[in-house]
Amino acid sequence: MRRSATRRMALQSLAAFVAGSPLLETPLLEAQQDPVRDQSRIKALRELESTFDFEPVAFAKLVRSVYDYTAYGSGGEFTMRRNRQAFEWADLIPAATPASGTVQTATTVLGTEMQYPIFVSPTATQGQLHPDGETAMRKGATAASNTPMIVSNNSTLPFAKVAAGPGSPLWVQLYPKQAMDDNKSYLEPAIAAGARAVVVTVDQQAPVYERALRGRNLTAGGRGGGRGGVVSVAASNPYRLPMYRLWYEWRFFDEIRTFVKVPILAKGILTAEDALLCLDHGVDAIYVSNHGGRSLDYSPSTFEVLPEIVDAVRGRVPVVFDGGIRRGADILKALALGANAVCIGRAVRWGLAAYGAEGVQKVLEILQAELKLAMLQTGRTTLAAVDRKMERVHFQ
Ligand SMILES: Cc1cc2nc3c(=O)[nH]c(=O)nc-3n(C[C@H](O)[C@H](O)[C@H](O)COP(=O)(O)O)c2cc1C
Repeated sequence: MRRSATRRMALQSLAAFVAGSPLLETPLLEAQQDPVRDQSRIKALRELESTFDFEPVAFAKLVRSVYDYTAYGSGGEFTMRRNRQAFEWADLIPAATPASGTVQTATTVLGTEMQYPIFVSPTATQGQLHPDGETAMRKGATAASNTPMIVSNNSTLPFAKVAAGPGSPLWVQLYPKQAMDDNKSYLEPAIAAGARAVVVTVDQQAPVYERALRGRNLTAGGRGGGRGGVVSVAASNPYRLPMYRLWYEWRFFDEIRTFVKVPILAKGILTAEDALLCLDHGVDAIYVSNHGGRSLDYSPSTFEVLPEIVDAVRGRVPVVFDGGIRRGADILKALALGANAVCIGRAVRWGLAAYGAEGVQKVLEILQAELKLAMLQTGRTTLAAVDRKMERVHFQ
């Protein structure tokens, strides 16, 4: 008895010694190490050079299920990967005599003025990534030359709270609700609080994140794990289709138009045919998106379908684009195919998780600087000069 008490005391004092010892720093750093990513420590904000650098920092700082929620695509993640790969099948043609001097990047989309043709995409529950959630996202976007932000229907903070105080322009995103009053009671206060446009997302009828299905017993639950967009398998619904999104039709746009007086966009358009139907139903802009590869797996990459949609729309309404953008060159490639502006989903989420508002700001500033550089290298100093001639695509 005495002997074991003594041994316990000896172990305790050894533990106290180790805890106070600089030796412990090594194991702690190793605990942060992710051998797959060869990340031996968490880099400081000033050390991060590209948007890709923010992902391992977000990975290190978030609990696994929350990190996964941002990382996942649906099914086997073919579409999510293809969104990135498609950019590799397009070359930017360098100018033999690169331009120099100032680059003009300011534009206006649906009346919203912006210094760069870049928005923050609507993405859900940013409060999981940072305690100040969407407020921190907006703060970072504001600091990055007043980048407009689209607030998700599933935001952690209510729209009015995100909109409180000065900051960058806001649009609001809506998942259609079957009872028209539910759309009204969500949109009207948001528009009153300053939402300058409404983005109606039509593309997420059946999100099935296989990776979340596999991991559901390993996580404590919540969006990133147990739920994570995974629809429970009821005998009456063997394909896990979320019934709450399967009813809507094109006339939904006609119906919300009766009370929405700001511009309306349809988000999730992937075909020329649907783009033309948008025009028939008075939609003010087409938002080409496949939800970052989180909806129908094996749907095409957004970059590959962009030209056919731009050609069908023929400049009658703006075309906004997202999916896989991680570099300024990706932005220029989308603009060259005819997008009026692009939106950024995961990259700014990594920024928010990694370093809060400052992380968001830096991610956006990196993209802005890279866009300008790519414009100079291709000899284009204005957005008006950006055209298809500067790009060679290999998938047509
Ligand atoms: C974690 C996460 C949450 C998202 N939540 C929403 C949402 O609430 N509403 C919506 O319209 N799109 C949502 N999206 C899709 C994004 O708006 C956007 O289309 C996509 O992230 C763009 O691809 P990227 O992440 O490769 O930039 C979400 C995407 C991610 C990654």
